[in-house]
Order: sequence, then structure tokens, then C-alpha cells
Amino acid sequence: MSSYEARFQVWRGDERGGGLEDFTVEVHDGEVVLDIVHRLQATQAPDLAVRWNCKAGKCGSCSAEVNGRPRLLCMTRMSVFDRAETITITPLRAFPVIRDLVTDVGFNYEKAREVPAFVPPPGLGPGEYRMFQEDVDRPQEFRKCIECFLCQNTCHVVRDHEENKRAFAGPRYLMRVAELDMHPLDAAAETGLDRGRTAQDDHGLGYCNITKCCTEVCPEGIKITDNALIPLKERAVDRKYDPLVWLGSKIRRR
Ligand code: F3S
Repeated sequence: MSSYEARFQVWRGDERGGGLEDFTVEVHDGEVVLDIVHRLQATQAPDLAVRWNCKAGKCGSCSAEVNGRPRLLCMTRMSVFDRAETITITPLRAFPVIRDLVTDVGFNYEKAREVPAFVPPPGLGPGEYRMFQEDVDRPQEFRKCIECFLCQNTCHVVRDHEENKRAFAGPRYLMRVAELDMHPLDAAAETGLDRGRTAQDDHGLGYCNITKCCTEVCPEGIKITDNALIPLKERAVDRKYDPLVWLGSKIRRR
């Protein structure tokens, strides 16, 4: 097994402020950035705060920014970097820092609570739900989400504009609205809840200008923009400009 010494700059600090600290750490073949952070804790910075859990790309805990790009620390191989470069590791920029690499991601849970839950079909009990696979194929893709919040962190609508957080749910939760809207058994419409309309009116779909940055950083490869956000937008446009859809929605609302 070969090893080499790599240079790192790691952000240290808390909500009052902080900055980058220089470290030189040994790297072994096959390691990921989270291995380096753990070696740093074990050898030079025992109080370095980092959130992690599964180390397998499934819990979504170890999200941070490596050389300014939002990534999972456990899924970022050291071999993708030039051995001579200095690698920076910083906390997610869109959320408030608690300490070092740990941020307060509570914004996302607030937005999750704002999306009305699945409405069970009337007349069916648990265990009686039946769906065709072809009907669940589309929303099933969105169930791969591990809630790492890399998409929420990278979307410029909130990354650079704290003031937009109140009105904009972010790609993860607009995708949740799309998932429920496409769910073959969701009975929200029968209760008068138009999920497509709420995406526009309550969750800030109009703020999304389809930059696709959310899709680019998704570690699960979910096509958030193409498969969730654009279909929601198309429905919003239909509702507004297609006279038949418009008329139908007026009649249904009576
Ligand atoms: Fe943001 Fe994704 Fe739209 S990055 S602007 S939600 S396509």
C-alpha cells in the first residue's frame, strides 16, 4: 500500500466566525476525504467537529464542501485530486455553522413539515393498496433521496440569498411535492388539495430557473430538475395558459 502526505485547509470555527487552518495529513491508497478527517481527529485536531454516520453514502450526514463543491465526504475519493494540490474542506455554505464542519440543517426540516403528507385513498385500508410498477416508476426515483441536502445547499436561490429561504422550499422539497403529485394512490385532489398549485403558490417553484446545479450534485444521481421540477413547471404553465385545463380546474373547484 502506498501513501503520501497531502496538504489540507480545513475550516475551524463556530457561529461567531472562524477561518481555514492548514494541516498536512498522510493519505493511503483507496481512502476517501472522510478517512482524512478522521485521521486528522486522531492525530492533530481531536476537537474537530464533523457529522457522519454510515460511511457508505446512504445516511446523508457527512455533507460538506471540498474545494468549494458540495460533496459527501465519505464518497469523495482522494484519488480524484492532484497529489500536489491543497484541498480545502469547508462546511455547507447555505446553512448556519454550529462548529467546524457541522451546520444547522434545520431549515430543511421546516420545509419538510410544510409539504402536506400523502393522503390515503378513501375506502382502502393498509395492506390493500395495489399499484402497477409502471405507475410508480416515476415517483420511485425520488425515493432514492438520502436527504444529504447537497441540492438544497447548492441551489443559488438560497445559497446566495438568505432572504429567499422563507418562500422557497428548495429542490429537495419541490421534488417531494412532485413525488406525491405523481403518486398513483395519493388522494389529495379529492380533498381539494392541488399539489401542483401548492408547488407554485406555497413552495416557491417560480424561484427555480432550471440551472440544474441541484441535479449535478445529487449523489444518488436523481434527475431532480428534468424529472421533478420541470414537470411541475409544465403543469403550472398548462394551468395558467391552456384554456381547457383552466376551464377544467374552475369546474372542479365548484
Ligand atoms: Fe435551484 Fe435546481 Fe432550480 S439548483 S434553480 S432548484 S434547477
